[in-house]
Order: sequence, then structure tokens, then C-alpha cells
Amino acid sequence: MANIIVTIDGYSSCGKSTLAKKLAARLHYKYIDSGAMYRAITLYFLRNRVDWNVAEEVLDALKNIQLEFVVNPEHKRSEIFLNGENVEYVIRDLVVAEKVSEVAAVKEVREFAVAAQQQLGAGKGIVMDGRDIGTTVFPEAELKIFLVADPAVRVARRFKELHEKNPVVTLEEVKHNLEMRDYIDSNREISPLRKAEDALTLDNTDLSPEETLNKACDMVHAALKRG
Ligand code: DC
Repeated sequence: MANIIVTIDGYSSCGKSTLAKKLAARLHYKYIDSGAMYRAITLYFLRNRVDWNVAEEVLDALKNIQLEFVVNPEHKRSEIFLNGENVEYVIRDLVVAEKVSEVAAVKEVREFAVAAQQQLGAGKGIVMDGRDIGTTVFPEAELKIFLVADPAVRVARRFKELHEKNPVVTLEEVKHNLEMRDYIDSNREISPLRKAEDALTLDNTDLSPEETLNKACDMVHAALKRG
């Protein structure tokens, strides 16, 4: 099977990473979670008290950040490492989620992350999810999926996920965080969240993860046929 680039963009918590992971496994492609990169950078900034409103501080800090995706042999999925430390789980914390959209709106941060993402996709055979993957990172991708889901369903899904790890989290907090991130992600100056003109919309409000995957696989087969 030919190697293509599949991009999956959309709002927070609409199931992008669930779909991207399953699709990559089905196709034997590499999976890259671009949001994890922005989250790991945010974690570094928070830990090292980097003021992301000051360009020089950001540029200095980025020089000390090394991000790597390593496949975990247990479940065969890639996990993100920040300067050699596995941060795959700690970056999902609400403390990081509260700041990541602000950090991801910083020009220098985006340039750093986009360059790294383009390098990771150089050999194709990749599924990457995020907000600007089909518009900015890989505008020439063979298949672009824009995943959507009803906002109430997204809040409920995210709440379930976070609540399992941290029972103190409230539905209201999760709702507020999603609304704030949607707003910042779609209104920032650089690479705001947009559906690429040639992206295909996939609404998974009433679909199970398996049904969503099957629909995405149909899209991949159609893209491969188009050549
Ligand atoms: O997909 P996620 O929720 O893990 O992403 C975390 C944040 O990173 C999200 O609020 C917006 C930002 N992001 C981005 O700006 N561009 C991307 N390609 C991926 C994520």
C-alpha cells in the first residue's frame, strides 16, 4: 500500500487522537499527536517559569527543549518524551490544559513545533492530528479529515476521561476549559483552527469509535484510489 499523509484536525475533545491512533494502527502508519508537543512545551515553560509573552525568553527556552516520540512496546503506541522524560501522562493534566492554548498561540512556539512536525512527516506513512495540520503543516496531504462532534458530547467525553484520573474535576471546569480553548484556538492570529478547503468533514456525534474508524478507512481507500 502506498504511503500517504493523513491529517485529522478539529476542536478539542472531538475524538481526534482516538481516531488517529486506531487509524495509524490499522494502516501500519506512524501516529503523531501534535497537541502533545504544545502540551510538553507548556509543561516545560510552567516548570521553568518561562514567560511566554517575552519572545527572547521563549527562544532561549526552546533551545533547551528536545521532543521525541517513542513507541511503547507494551501497547505499541508512541509516547512523547521531553528532554528524555516520558511526559505522555503528566501533560494531560488540567494545569497544562489551562495554559496550552495561550502557549500554542505564540509565534516562536508554532514555528518550532511546525518545523518538527514537518520533519516527522517527511517519509509519509503518517497520521497526525491537531488544529492546523491540514492547513499549515501538510497543506499537500493526500487526505484531510475535519472531525466534528456536538459540544455537549465533547464535554461529556472529556469529563469522563479526566474524572477517572482526578475525581475532584467538575463538569463545569471541563466545559469552561473546552470553551476557552475552542475560542483561543480558532481566533489566534497564526494558523487558527480552520477546516481546510479540501478537508472532508466527519461528524462522530452519534458514532462509536469503531464506526468512526470505519468511515475514516473508507476515506483512506478513496484517497488511495485517487492516487
Ligand atoms: O489536541 P490537544 O487538546 O492535546 O491540544 C492541546 C492544545 O494545543 C490545543 O488547545 C491547541 C493546541 N494545538 C495547536 O494549536 N495546534 C495543533 N496542531 C495541535 C494542538
